[in-house]
Amino acid sequence: MDRSRCTLTDITRPDREPLVMVTAYDAASARLADDAGVDLILVGDTLAEFALGYDSTAPVTVDEMLHHCRAVTRTRPRALVVGDMPLGSYQVSAEEAVRNAIRFVKEGGVDAVKLEGGEVRAQAARAIVDAGIAVMGHVGYTPQSAVSFGSHVVAGRDAETGIQLYHDALALERAGCFSIVLEAVVRAVAGRITAELAIPTIGIGAGAGCSGQVLVFHELTGIHAGPSPRFVRRYGEAGAEIGQAIAAFARDVRSRAYPDKQHAYLMPAEEIARFDHALAAERRDSRLRTRTA
Ligand code: KIV
Repeated sequence: MDRSRCTLTDITRPDREPLVMVTAYDAASARLADDAGVDLILVGDTLAEFALGYDSTAPVTVDEMLHHCRAVTRTRPRALVVGDMPLGSYQVSAEEAVRNAIRFVKEGGVDAVKLEGGEVRAQAARAIVDAGIAVMGHVGYTPQSAVSFGSHVVAGRDAETGIQLYHDALALERAGCFSIVLEAVVRAVAGRITAELAIPTIGIGAGAGCSGQVLVFHELTGIHAGPSPRFVRRYGEAGAEIGQAIAAFARDVRSRAYPDKQHAYLMPAEEIARFDHALAAERRDSRLRTRTA
């Protein structure tokens, strides 16, 4: 496999095979994803739900995101790393969006940032691109708005909302985004929008007509035990395997089957005899000291 770093030019090449993006929030998952050969690693704000225990992506902060971006980028992956800008970090003003995007690059070490929203966010996207930072858009179902507007609403179910999505995607492309995530978008609409754009789309619940696909690490590997949206395919049962490993460890500790000789540091028999002798002397001295005290 070619181990040179993925560049924006590789990602946006029109003739390339479908793009593969996976989320990662720490060094271990980043190494696994990168060794598996993904094109992009997304330090998604789903970090909030899958790693930090929040009920939604809304509470996660820029500082929390940066902490996890650093964990991923320290592994120096071959894949392009995209940092997800959390709710509140790019909506207030274009200046603040640029300031926060710069933090993602300088402090988080990411190659690009992602933000949610279409036409309404085009100005912020343009300002970040003008600052020299690559931006990935995200339209359709946008989880950061779900707190206010409801969860898992499929986008583009009729011609009007389909056209609005097209306008949203076009506005992001015109703002200079290098790629756009289409989340929970009707398949026919996502395929047609992809065909209209010059930049690649990355689908999640948007059908096979997108230029690539993304899934959340914890869902695709089966680490996540809870329910998932219908578009998720579990490619493994890592959660069950991890649970079995921990239960086996607990069993072995309780039955004293672990650790055994091969997991211990050993000492020659004559050294143990000298140690026992010295220990007996220490015991005698301490008894003597207690009696005379
Ligand atoms: O935060 C995230 O994981 C995402 C993907 C679901 C696209 O935005």
